[in-house]
Amino acid sequence: MVLLVVMLCFQSGIAQTVVVPADKKAKASPLLFNDAAVKDGENIYNKNCVSCHGNPTKANYQKSMSPIPGDPAEEKFQKNSDGELFYKIGVGNAVMPMFKNILSEEERWKLVGYIRSFNKSYKQPPLEVVVVNLLSKTVKLAISYNEKSHQIAITAKGKIKNDTVPLKGSEIVLYAKRYFGRLQIETVKQTNQQGTVLFAFPKDLPGDKVGNIELIAKINDELFGEVSVSKTLKIGIPTDKPSLTEKRAIWNVNAKAPIWILLTYTIGVLVVLSFLIYIIFSIIKIKKVSKKNN
Ligand code: HEC
Repeated sequence: MVLLVVMLCFQSGIAQTVVVPADKKAKASPLLFNDAAVKDGENIYNKNCVSCHGNPTKANYQKSMSPIPGDPAEEKFQKNSDGELFYKIGVGNAVMPMFKNILSEEERWKLVGYIRSFNKSYKQPPLEVVVVNLLSKTVKLAISYNEKSHQIAITAKGKIKNDTVPLKGSEIVLYAKRYFGRLQIETVKQTNQQGTVLFAFPKDLPGDKVGNIELIAKINDELFGEVSVSKTLKIGIPTDKPSLTEKRAIWNVNAKAPIWILLTYTIGVLVVLSFLIYIIFSIIKIKKVSKKNN
């Protein structure tokens, strides 16, 4: 019995929603929730959220999930401040993914705008003035590579007026560019006291002919905002991959289509044409015969 009570408490403890720090709670949106923003928010919602939360006002969210995600038009969502909604979308919870590294701040605010569009009594508070965007231009990310340990070091520095300071505890994501899309290297990491973070780079990643790989580092700093830089380093395995359009292939231009496609296509067209000619001749023959008989 005691165990059951403990378990129940534990369960409800897990199900409890995220605690939002006071300064985040009071944060207002820097962008106006006008029709365009709400429309963008709707598109972002339909791509990322509808699978769990359903269509707002329809209460068609995933009811089998625990805790239940809920309908954004309902009180459970609407009683949050804008800052709380923004924060909760960013950090996610046990079930919901953390969206702050998937969606930009602007996209997350647009989501808040979309959620608010289902609340008739909502009035948007005064916009938050953003200094962040002006400052963000002065963030510097330095990417270097240690051959021995096969590690990528990224150092983040910010410049406020004439002072350069290491950005401590900022989140950094590292990607390697691939043929189609990006490959994330390790997980999101936080910079140390010197503003540096180390990523172990895979030893067997194919690069281009000489082993070049393009790296993209993205920083998400509270004060400086989001900045990304890219750098090409010779850290991959040299791979002599023919260009996608060098050889005959299905995805290539007409002139470089595979021979078998050209052949089957041509033969097909010829067969259909000869059938047509045969049919026309037959019709002419029928006419001639019927004339004779008359
Ligand atoms: C994998 C399923 C899933 C996805 C995808 C998902 N959520 Fe959630 N969401 C949940 C669950 C479960 C909860 C928790 C409800 C609770 O704790 O009561 C939740 C809670 C929330 C809350 C907090 C509501 C409250 O009670 O204060 C917000 C806001 C939210 N989601 C917004 C979004 C937005 C916006 C997206 C898309 C960017 C999204 N969610 C995507 C499952 C999901």
